[in-house]
Amino acid sequence: MTKTVTGFSKLTKKEKIDWLISNFLENKPKAFTTLEQYCNSDKELQQIHDEFIENTISNFYLPYAVAPNFIINGKSYVIPMTTEESSVVAAASLVAKFWSDKGGFKTEVISTIKSGQVHFMYNHDFEDLQRYFTTIKPELIEATASITKNMRKRGGGILDIHLNNKTDKLDNYYQLHVTFDTIDSMGANFINSCLEAIAKVFRNDDIEIVMSILSNYIPDCLVKAEVSCKIDELGENATEFAQKFYQAVQIAHVEPYRAVTHNKGIMNGIDAVVIATGNDFRAVEAGVHAYAAKNGTYKGLSNCSIDDGIFKFWLEIPLAVGTVGGLTALHPLAKLSLEILQNPSAKELMQIIAVAGLAQNFAALKSLTTTGIQKGHMKMHLQNILNQLGANLAEKIELLNYFDNRHVSFSIASDALQKLRVTKLLE
Ligand code: MEV
Repeated sequence: MTKTVTGFSKLTKKEKIDWLISNFLENKPKAFTTLEQYCNSDKELQQIHDEFIENTISNFYLPYAVAPNFIINGKSYVIPMTTEESSVVAAASLVAKFWSDKGGFKTEVISTIKSGQVHFMYNHDFEDLQRYFTTIKPELIEATASITKNMRKRGGGILDIHLNNKTDKLDNYYQLHVTFDTIDSMGANFINSCLEAIAKVFRNDDIEIVMSILSNYIPDCLVKAEVSCKIDELGENATEFAQKFYQAVQIAHVEPYRAVTHNKGIMNGIDAVVIATGNDFRAVEAGVHAYAAKNGTYKGLSNCSIDDGIFKFWLEIPLAVGTVGGLTALHPLAKLSLEILQNPSAKELMQIIAVAGLAQNFAALKSLTTTGIQKGHMKMHLQNILNQLGANLAEKIELLNYFDNRHVSFSIASDALQKLRVTKLLE
């Protein structure tokens, strides 16, 4: 039998929970307690979270951590990170420390242009359309004047509007391609409001507007992060390490199976900072992966060179993030993250996030080309395994020590815990 509900969003939180639990959950008291446990007892704070989305019935926590010792363009940073993956923050901290006495990270914002399109259909003469566009263009800009007023004061706004003929791709399909500088905001609402205002003025009897929406493809909103040092500063077996590391980067350039995982490792660092600062990780993910495929083949996003005894490793990625507006002002932890980062501009935040991505990629490639990834990964994950197995504090301490130099898996840890318990019983 199907179970549907009408007017769910109008119910109170308690009514929603009651309906959910009575219809879909077996262990009703446990479900109720879990939902309750994750709600904040500070009513005002809980209300902020309740109002982020519709039908909120609790909160979903992720760990909030910091990775110290990042030196970026000579300035010290502690980077806030939100992630569930056990090794990400540890890796970031290790890599930050590793590069801190080798000049740290160097970064540069290459460009900050975002865009959006008014997609429309038109089946008359293109030259007439071009004439119409040229005549009406000032009015299109004027239509956004009240929306762009504050942004213009801050030095941003609409950069230009182009008419693009896309009929070679789809019959009758044209677009207005509008470019923006949104300064310190991510700008999604700003861009969409401008596009809708433009579309309203642009439409006529011959122009059928299909939709107006920003693009998350931002190949002109780019940031670069880089580290470099003399090869012999790389530590043990430096030359062999540098060579293998270089090869690993080249493999990700030519092999999409590897490139996707390579870039996933970069995103481990990027998403963690994007989430901690209240930015839109789906937009960032979509934009970064599209950029990785910009030449028609999906490629790894980092680069490596070894020239004249110098090892260089860098990354160039598109990032649309903001330090004002959106969740950055609403979520108390997002606000705190920006404070920890010394209240950066959006450009500065782009650089910090790119560094987090590069650091994570460095950590992954270093492990992969030396010890293998599982050693460090499983060690970090052991804590989770032991929690899952219900180990108490004393057992955890003992087993974390025991596995310090041993291979670990879920079943090996489970056996070790059983053995430890039997031994304790016999003592
Ligand atoms: C795991 O989350 C990320 C890695 O797979 C990245 C990589 O392979 O480069 C370790």
